[in-house]
Amino acid sequence: MINKDTIDRIMDATRIEEVIGEFVSLKKRGANHIGCCPFHNEKTPSFYVSPSKGIFKCFGCGKSGNAVGFLMEHEHYSYPEALHWLADKYHIHIEEEQMTEEQKERQTERDGLFHVSEFAQKYFADLLYNDEAGRAIGLSYFHHRGMSDEIIKSFGLGYCIDEWDNFTKHARQNGYSDAVLEKTGLTIFKEDGKCFDRFKGRVMFPIYSISGRVLGFSGRTLSKEKQVAKYVNSPDSDIYNKSHTLYGLYQARNAISRADKCYLVEGNVDVVSMHQSGVCNTVASCGTSLTIDQIRLIKRYTPNVTVLYDGDSAGIKAALRAVGLLFEEGMHVRVVLFPDGEDPDSYAQKYGSTQLQEYLHDHEENFVTFKTRVLLEDVQNDPIRKTEVLKEMVRTIALVPDMIERQEYVKQTAFRLNVSENILTQELAKTMASNAQKAWKEEQRRNADNAPVPPAEAEPAPAEGPTPSEPPIPQPPAEPPAAPNYNTAEVQEQQLIRLLINYGDKEVMQEGVDEAGNPCPISLRVAEVIVDEITDNELSFNNPILQQIFNLYRDAVSQGQPLPDANFFAMSSDAPLRNTALTLMLNPYSVSPLWMERKNIAVPTPLTYLRREVEETILSFKQKKLDQELEKNAYQLRTCTDPDDTLILMAQRQQLTQLRQAVCKQLNRVIV
Ligand code: CTP
Ligand code: MN
Repeated sequence: MINKDTIDRIMDATRIEEVIGEFVSLKKRGANHIGCCPFHNEKTPSFYVSPSKGIFKCFGCGKSGNAVGFLMEHEHYSYPEALHWLADKYHIHIEEEQMTEEQKERQTERDGLFHVSEFAQKYFADLLYNDEAGRAIGLSYFHHRGMSDEIIKSFGLGYCIDEWDNFTKHARQNGYSDAVLEKTGLTIFKEDGKCFDRFKGRVMFPIYSISGRVLGFSGRTLSKEKQVAKYVNSPDSDIYNKSHTLYGLYQARNAISRADKCYLVEGNVDVVSMHQSGVCNTVASCGTSLTIDQIRLIKRYTPNVTVLYDGDSAGIKAALRAVGLLFEEGMHVRVVLFPDGEDPDSYAQKYGSTQLQEYLHDHEENFVTFKTRVLLEDVQNDPIRKTEVLKEMVRTIALVPDMIERQEYVKQTAFRLNVSENILTQELAKTMASNAQKAWKEEQRRNADNAPVPPAEAEPAPAEGPTPSEPPIPQPPAEPPAAPNYNTAEVQEQQLIRLLINYGDKEVMQEGVDEAGNPCPISLRVAEVIVDEITDNELSFNNPILQQIFNLYRDAVSQGQPLPDANFFAMSSDAPLRNTALTLMLNPYSVSPLWMERKNIAVPTPLTYLRREVEETILSFKQKKLDQELEKNAYQLRTCTDPDDTLILMAQRQQLTQLRQAVCKQLNRVIV
């Protein structure tokens, strides 16, 4: 929706060190800024920001990108959200591309819902401190439950006055329409035209989006009567979908990233309590049992989830269900069960935050220990029940996508159930094969469902279709054929790509010919020189990522397109490509020590040496490639039994040796 011009203006105005400086404390170090990486835990800084290139890179964890990428990674913004953030910071007016009337209407409608939700949150929170009833009832309730003013404010908690329509009246006075009040569910309208506040007399827990917008509310009753629902939640609306939302994620997201772990609890109060106890990487599902979308939300921050549940039978059942779902999504799951009848909040209130943290630490079990323990509890040496447990464990382990992890679980389960690993492995293989078969059949069925309906006059299909061929049985991977271990040309390959990325656009003088065929100097871009040399000699890169980068330059040169630049690589969604390119970009001069020694320089290569640098790099690359060819040829000669082939190989060898000599001669000429 944001047009290209505006994006360019935003990117031009953006100073990456200022953007990242808002989240990370940076120190200037030469041309770069450095700090401790916000994406992993570290004590010595390995996080580099290059203002001139507009990119960041962590040499510890490998994360890299430009300012937009940083915001997307750190704040978990979408691409347009990140652009909006930057536009805001640099006071750039965003020209949105024309929306259709329908889109506009929808946009205004959603804006209206967001506005009234934010308005309501402010109102409820304000009452807590600035209204007599708010203080006496709402605030004292929160205090009574051990919440500090600081935590109350950071979660935006509030109170809704216990009158029929106190909030609705206030909202109407402030110009909010009945339509938005109804759509957000803040007001309930009855058929007779009467209306009342959904949350009347409740303490309010606002539910925030990842970027901190109020989406809805969860309101807790203060009444002890059993027939009153303890929690009332906002209905789903255009802006709120409870199964896509996690309570506390806005407040927890940075802590989750940093700890690379997320605690999942059952209740709103548990989240608040855990945060107050210093365990800030905690969220809860919003009044639903855990959903796949909620799991995927966590996955944006970490694959590691620890589920905290009440140790009563309902809690155990819920934990088992959650664990299964989490597993299916490929998460690493652990479980902490609290003593019967306790939840994280009640535990923290009773014993304090230190004990809570210790409890979490000491009682965390992986799913195998947890599940076998729970299932074995009512088995008591009954062999039939034990077999059932074994099968159930196998069913769950079969859901783990990672093979190595599966093997580890097999080991642990075998130990716990006191059976041999072999039995479990066989059982697992059977289960996985049958799962694969089921999935395959399901897919066949779906394909059949989606098949185009045959035209009416066509022959009716036979009742029994041909039996589909059997699904492929997974085979163990074949042993890779033994191959000679060629010397890699990694250093030379990297050096070539480094030159392409950092100096591709720079002009160097080369020997060329004029129209009359006489030698004359011509000016060529580094990228053109390198691309010509590599393609003319039909050389290729061993490292597939370097080859990929080379291809990008090759295509740009041959099509006369602008060369890929820092922003291009920084924004690439291909992580290995991005990381490799940015690493080469950020150490443009970290050439091999040998290289520097030969040149008798310990400092970066000045641009004046560029022409020689390019020539020498190409030649050493060629030399290395010829070495590889020669090695391959030697291997073939050793293993060749056919006399004719041997002759061919020997001729080839001679040719390669000559070529190599020529390259070495040239290389010497360049070096001296
Ligand atoms: N919940 C709900 N509707 C209810 C009861 C519960 O949506 N009628 C949801 C709420 O999100 C609540 C969570 O389920 O936070 C857990 O409920 P419960 O264990 O009953 O309450 P606690 O979180 O322990 O609440 P409190 O500590 O305030 O009693
Ligand atoms: Mn509770």
